[in-house]
Amino acid sequence: MIEFPQHFLWGTATSAYQIEGSPLADGAGASIWHRFTHTPNLVRDGATGDVACDHYRRFLDDVALMRSFGTNAYRFSTSWSRVMPLGRNAVNPAGLDFYDRLVDALLANGIEPMVTLYHWDLPAALDDLGGWLNPEIAKWFAEYAAVVFRRLDGRVKMWATLNEPWVVTDGGYLHGALAPGHRNRFEAPIATHHLLRAHAEAVKTYRAEGRHRIGIVVNLEPKYPASHNPTDRASALRADAYMNRQYLDPIFLGRYPEELGQMFGEAWPQWPADDFALIQQPIDFLGVNYYTRSVTRFDPHAWLLQASPVPQKRATYTETGWEVFAPALTDTLVWVKGRYGNPPIYVTENGAAFFDPPVVEGNRVADPLRVDYLRKHIKAVHAAIEHGVDVRGYFVWSLLDNFEWRLGYSKRFGIVHVDFDTQKRTPKDSALFYAEVIASKGHVLNNPPAPL
Ligand code: BGC
Repeated sequence: MIEFPQHFLWGTATSAYQIEGSPLADGAGASIWHRFTHTPNLVRDGATGDVACDHYRRFLDDVALMRSFGTNAYRFSTSWSRVMPLGRNAVNPAGLDFYDRLVDALLANGIEPMVTLYHWDLPAALDDLGGWLNPEIAKWFAEYAAVVFRRLDGRVKMWATLNEPWVVTDGGYLHGALAPGHRNRFEAPIATHHLLRAHAEAVKTYRAEGRHRIGIVVNLEPKYPASHNPTDRASALRADAYMNRQYLDPIFLGRYPEELGQMFGEAWPQWPADDFALIQQPIDFLGVNYYTRSVTRFDPHAWLLQASPVPQKRATYTETGWEVFAPALTDTLVWVKGRYGNPPIYVTENGAAFFDPPVVEGNRVADPLRVDYLRKHIKAVHAAIEHGVDVRGYFVWSLLDNFEWRLGYSKRFGIVHVDFDTQKRTPKDSALFYAEVIASKGHVLNNPPAPL
């Protein structure tokens, strides 16, 4: 029998560069994503975040949509270069004012804000100084965090330092698919370490400046070995160390997983013990983003992991090529509880890109595959709660179809359809389904699903 707790948070999630548009408006500085999207051939169809969902100017409409679904929480990110155009020193008052008005609008509509301070949009001026490779960045990040805390902590009760640091290093410094687009195995572990130090300095600053709760958001993707063969099992462990434990082990256990040193070899640096004491700073909650799992086999030719994913024959795959496999969400939440001592958890992102049919008369968008995805995954969250995991909220990725990084506007994750020519928003069937889940505290999930 599914029934979610009374105070469970039901939210949607977005990030600044993906929805706001107006990246240089009112005194804002450029971010690395502005630079990346304006460099030819890096992003599909030459897409940029110049307009995106025009949320910077339409945020009141978007808050009204959230309210219409009955959500009681919203996770968004602040843009560092909107708040501090050069990333340090001078603050841009108009940038802070925008987030101030957004927070007020949310609270006026009974929606609790969760603010992420960094969702990949580093100020370009800091990238010119080395970005995440410059050790000074931990201090710069804490200074920026303090500015935002001072302005919003009276009203914002949930803070996250970084979104998915693994993606920042893997996409930004190792494989080059995301800004700033580097491909360098020596850089990746350095970026990782300074991300962790920056996270910790921001948490430390929060203990002095803030009065509520702060955590970090990681993306977890459980790795299952393709067979019982020891080489396959070892490959799954390497993949798991790289993607899932690389950030959580230092934060909760004060050390990196051993596999990483073996994998990176001469590119793996040694760091002072003091750094680990800093990084182990207690946090108040963990944000978990979950999209898919991976089944892994040993592959001697696959650098860096010597592991390759094995396609699953009977599975449904999303438009981004991710297997739909909800039990792994329960598994990963139970795993966090066991390994890291049952921290309070929010599922801070979960969702899927599917090909949506066009908006039809009566303003309907039928997206049965996304409804099915949400149904299975929200049930999987409930199953984790039944296993004793302290899950306190769930946020769908995403409120709106938006700028999907190097894939531009080609992949739609929204529960609200956005017509990018007119900016018209149309709630999809998945939004209506989510509203029913929320209104019934999950009870509706006890009914058998309508056939697809
Ligand atoms: C990120 C989002 C992204 C989503 C879908 C997550 O990794 O936090 O920014 O849009 O996945 O790819």
